[in-house]
Amino acid sequence: MLNQTIEKLLNQQIAKELYASNLYLAMSGHFAQANLKGMATWMRIQSAEERGHALRFFDFVIDREGQVEIGAVEQPPTEFGAPVEIFKQALEHERKVTASIHNIYAHAVQEADYATQVFLQWFINEQVEEEATAAEVVERLAMAGDDRAALLMLDAEMKSRAD
Ligand SMILES: [Fe+2]
Ligand SMILES: [Fe+2]
Repeated sequence: MLNQTIEKLLNQQIAKELYASNLYLAMSGHFAQANLKGMATWMRIQSAEERGHALRFFDFVIDREGQVEIGAVEQPPTEFGAPVEIFKQALEHERKVTASIHNIYAHAVQEADYATQVFLQWFINEQVEEEATAAEVVERLAMAGDDRAALLMLDAEMKSRAD
């Protein structure tokens, strides 16, 4: 059985992952319209991964005989800035998600909920990856600066994420 606090935090995390999925899908749409197809593909894949994260939490709540509750998911922004700003926004978002997962872990430790601690370890590792990947793109976009040729090269490189 799931402790009520943990159950609530896990359910909130489902909504947070779904928000991340929608945020990255919105970013993907923005990049597609700007003809930055590589970044559009990258964000679309990221969006699907976030939905996968939501489903992992969903399945875990059910496996623990908890009650799944899908909360309201806020609308993502409709206006976006330059690519470097968008990836900074994504990095900031990942940092928030990391903090949120660490918070659940801290509660799981407090409640001596070992199964949740083990479950969350995958996410703790995943967040290290996600932050590193987003930070790398931010740095490379910053290097490209106003050089449009460099931006297009980076975009082409990011397209290969799909393969
Ligand atoms: Fe996630
Ligand atoms: Fe993420």
